[in-house]
Amino acid sequence: MRTIIRNGRIVTAVDDYNADILIEDETVAVIGRSLDMEADKVIDAKGRLVIPGGIDPHTHMDLPFGGTSSSDNFETGTIAAAHGGTTTIIDFAVQYKGQALNEALDEWFRKSEGRTSIDYGFHLICTDLPDERLPEIKTLIDQGVTSFKLFMAYPGVFLVDDGVIYKAMTTASEKGGLICMHAENGVVIDAIVKRALAEGKTSPKYHALTRPTKAEAEGVHRAIAIADMANAPVYIVHLSCDDALQEVTRARDAGIPVYAETCPQYLFLDDTVYEKPGFEGAKYVMTPPIRGKHNQEKLWRGLQFNDLQVVATDHCPFCFKEQKELGKDDFTKIPNGGPGVEHRMSLVYNGGVATGKISLNRFVEIVSTNPARIFGLFPRKGTIAVGSDADIVIFDPDEEMTISAKTHHMNVDYSCYEGVRVRGVTKTVLSRGKVVIEEGKYAGKPGNGKFLKRGLFNSPR
Ligand code: URP
Ligand code: ZN
Ligand code: ZN
Repeated sequence: MRTIIRNGRIVTAVDDYNADILIEDETVAVIGRSLDMEADKVIDAKGRLVIPGGIDPHTHMDLPFGGTSSSDNFETGTIAAAHGGTTTIIDFAVQYKGQALNEALDEWFRKSEGRTSIDYGFHLICTDLPDERLPEIKTLIDQGVTSFKLFMAYPGVFLVDDGVIYKAMTTASEKGGLICMHAENGVVIDAIVKRALAEGKTSPKYHALTRPTKAEAEGVHRAIAIADMANAPVYIVHLSCDDALQEVTRARDAGIPVYAETCPQYLFLDDTVYEKPGFEGAKYVMTPPIRGKHNQEKLWRGLQFNDLQVVATDHCPFCFKEQKELGKDDFTKIPNGGPGVEHRMSLVYNGGVATGKISLNRFVEIVSTNPARIFGLFPRKGTIAVGSDADIVIFDPDEEMTISAKTHHMNVDYSCYEGVRVRGVTKTVLSRGKVVIEEGKYAGKPGNGKFLKRGLFNSPR
């Protein structure tokens, strides 16, 4: 099968030029001006950007959490991702207490097998790492699961202690793997939460008020200090605030290999969402919580000056009806997480490129190229180059759309961005040469996505 994309403006993290692309089967075969070649399918990209498929390295499809499961499974979630121009997700498998690491992974293979419309990889959340299990980290790295998430939060559920973090970092980095850190001081947070509940503070806003930015900053500081002692790189997930960013900036200035992602909810929402009437605030109960508005410009600065390298979504949707409502009388029972996988590219384009905060190249870098580099997928993914997978998004930089739960494809009954108008719309998406979205309509097939055996961690720059 040969496909030609004609007349587009190709933008990668470093390039910006007009050319045609010939795709042969799954990969980019030729890039050139006015290609004089035959093809089975021709796509006209005139007036549009042709960019590498988005890579969202932080999703939770079908995740059991808070007494329920996230409402997107691998089928609905990857269709929604594709609609928004994301062609690869890296989801989080979970090891529960007493499980071998490969046993945990097998469960996520069962959930995802034959269901995804785009390619996918796994990180593994480790919750139980006695010394005798540490070698299993190395086995998984050989199998293409090259990153692991550890929690400093949720004592009794996900939290692992600092000694375990140190040993996991040492072990993973010896093999070229990477530890991703949920950095919040969960022990202190738990004490604050208990006090709030005892005082009868049970509504959704107390989720935010019991998770101070200092708890996140302390977690980030400690994660970096432990990584430094372990002589290992560390990747901070879902960084939400200036206090935490300052820790990352300080460490990077000192030459410590720390990398961090933020998410659209921290760039575009502020803590006034918790003042919405009734139980509405539950829609924004996610961890870390949505922060005060002043943090947003600091996060953008972090993206501009490369202290933050990635925008991921932490897509972990729960329906407002029946799922978020589990916490109607007690905010600690609201399942933590929110939807986002579908709108990351448009939100970041609209809020970043259209406003002049970041360049087009930087946009591609933070939504695609850097996740590919950091998580061992580059240059197969994350760029448009001869030999790369033909994961390509044809993006209209001028078209506008209004985000709404009425029109989105995520399996969730609300949007955090209901009614928000954005400029920059994904029109057509190819995943390894196959059209998954054609002029905004799903044209893929669940099961066409492949599991990605990822390579080792690579420093983005
Ligand atoms: O609230 C969140 N973020 N839910 C997903 C789990 C996590 O910590 O990433
Ligand atoms: Zn987390
Ligand atoms: Zn998450």
